[in-house]
Amino acid sequence: MIAVIRMMPKSLVWIFSKRYIAGKTLQEAVDYVKTLNAKGIYATIDVLGESVTNKEEAVAAKDEALSVLDAIVQNNLMANLSIKPTQMGLSIDEEFAYANVLELVEKAKKINNFVRIDMEDSPYTEKTIRLFTRLHEKYDCVGIVLQAYLKRTLNDVKELNKLGTNYRLCKGIYVEPASIAYKDKQEIRDNYLNALELMFKNNNYVGIATHDEYLINAAIKMIKELNVPKDKYEFQMLLGVREDLRDKINSNGNKIRIYVPFGKDWFAYSTRRLKENPEMLKSIIKNIFGIK
Ligand code: FDA
Repeated sequence: MIAVIRMMPKSLVWIFSKRYIAGKTLQEAVDYVKTLNAKGIYATIDVLGESVTNKEEAVAAKDEALSVLDAIVQNNLMANLSIKPTQMGLSIDEEFAYANVLELVEKAKKINNFVRIDMEDSPYTEKTIRLFTRLHEKYDCVGIVLQAYLKRTLNDVKELNKLGTNYRLCKGIYVEPASIAYKDKQEIRDNYLNALELMFKNNNYVGIATHDEYLINAAIKMIKELNVPKDKYEFQMLLGVREDLRDKINSNGNKIRIYVPFGKDWFAYSTRRLKENPEMLKSIIKNIFGIK
């Protein structure tokens, strides 16, 4: 299916992708975040882009991310920043990526904001944890993402709990081998809940990032049973996904944050979102072949 999307004209893929993206410009992202904030919903803004292969591109991406932090202050937004490590140069040189992300975290600290480091595919798991750990030694306004499909995750939680970590916990979206990743839906859910429990029991802040009602209900039950205070968690969802559920969680008095991506490099992100949405893929294919 993904191969099919890659062969399509980008203009067509854009029609189906734009529900997942605020727009191609920062102004469009700011405008979108304002509409969320008006409903009491928080945002995390992401400049689209990943797997950068030269240092100039990584520096440009870091500069764009700095502009996002400026825009958050100027517009008084209830929002923080999410970044992809390979966009900051992690696949080029760890030290170089560290310097880029450090600049972002230092800026976030100055303006009382926060940087979330997204987790990419498994060649970068160890490097991303190392990047986070070094930044966390200096600043507390930085957090990491862990993926419940990875078999290593419970061990990572045990290690990161020792530092006192601000987590986002998600299922994980990249294609990983069965030797390192759970493939069964229920196994991933079980690992998610085991990781969440470990995080809460050590008094960490957790962004519960999922649209899976099974996990959301189980998390709410766990929060009650463990008496987790409201300032130790939030729910997180992606722009354009399960807005009904988002509004329900929000109206029940839970803090919720939406991942708001924007930018010109929208293709790779959109492909991953479309992969999660078989109905949308069917529509695209019907549209191409003119099937009613
Ligand atoms: P699941 O895929 O089972 O979806 C549950 C239900 O949600 C589906 O049945 C469907 O109704 C709906 N749904 C989900 N995706 C949809 C879509 N694209 N379109 C339409 N409906 C959809 N991953 C990662 O590897 N690294 C990361 O850093 C992040 N960051 C991140 C941030 C935030 C805020 C979220 C919410 C998610 C991520 N992810 C991520 C993605 C995550 O790993 C996962 O792929 C998606 O959230 C989908 O998994 P669910 O838990 O929602 O379950």
